[in-house]
Amino acid sequence: MNARPLVVKAHPPSSIEDARFAHESEEEFAGVLDFYGVRWQYEPRTFPLKHADDGRMIEAFSPDFYLPDLDLYIEITTLKQGLVTDKHRKLRRLQELYPEVQIKLLHKKDYLSLLSKYGIGGVREAESMGVREVLFSASQIERRVNELGAQIGRDYAGKEPLFVGVLKGVTCFMADLMRHTALPLSIDFMTISSYDGDRSGAVRIVQDLTENISGRDVLVIEDVIDTGMTLNHLLRQLEVRSPATLRVCTLLDKRARRLVELPLDYVGFEVPDEFVVGYGLDYRQRFRNLPFIATLRPDVLQQT
Ligand code: IMP
Ligand code: MG
Repeated sequence: MNARPLVVKAHPPSSIEDARFAHESEEEFAGVLDFYGVRWQYEPRTFPLKHADDGRMIEAFSPDFYLPDLDLYIEITTLKQGLVTDKHRKLRRLQELYPEVQIKLLHKKDYLSLLSKYGIGGVREAESMGVREVLFSASQIERRVNELGAQIGRDYAGKEPLFVGVLKGVTCFMADLMRHTALPLSIDFMTISSYDGDRSGAVRIVQDLTENISGRDVLVIEDVIDTGMTLNHLLRQLEVRSPATLRVCTLLDKRARRLVELPLDYVGFEVPDEFVVGYGLDYRQRFRNLPFIATLRPDVLQQT
């Protein structure tokens, strides 16, 4: 017997305020997803499993969650063995009737391993390392970087730009952006000294480009523009080398703190006036390997 059309909710709840959870563990799972910026919908669909001879639906299954970014349904299991067995049976039936549907039965303790699919990896480690709030999840970053790459590809069509990355914070962004830019392009890197409390030093180029940029279409790639002092200095150094064009692409724009006004041609995200880490950005050389962008707990930032 064939399955009937699915029962689909037009506006499934997708926030903890709107959802009326049947179990505490579901609410907890939703909280974990929110913390890491993973989008979810609560019980968005009912899959008919069995119909009586007169066509009435006599058995159905409504998975607890749907994660649109993974195209994955999640059913949270209870610990009552009788119910688990019945759920396994229903799940097998669902897979027979709807083979294209991806669904996972998840024990509470399996949350973290699921999240590793998003590149969230060591969630516990990240927490203990002092993350306060995830501002942009790995999947949000991926989507945005994809868009930026497409836009750059259109804007530079027919050209062969040189991406100039400012180390070290730009490493993740540069690696992803260039793979989403469908153009013949070259890359190069620079290291600029940053203010480290030593008032005698001025901002300077610690490691210069290896490419000659004269006549090239140069796109400076930055991790974050904060006061704008670093970028301002850098642009003035590059301008005198006569590039054909000189534009700026930054992953993050901390506009609230700008002292030097600079035209930014491409911006990934605007961030509030808070110190952020992850996806290449550091706090005292740590946290660069977090796959998301996050703020830190105040006690971490105060440590000397
Ligand atoms: P600016 O010269 O004030 O614009 O500072 C830019 C540089 O400071 C960036 O390239 C980063 O290396 C660093 N920076 C500024 N804000 C942050 C942040 O929130 N997290 C990590 N690094 C930052
Ligand atoms: Mg930097």
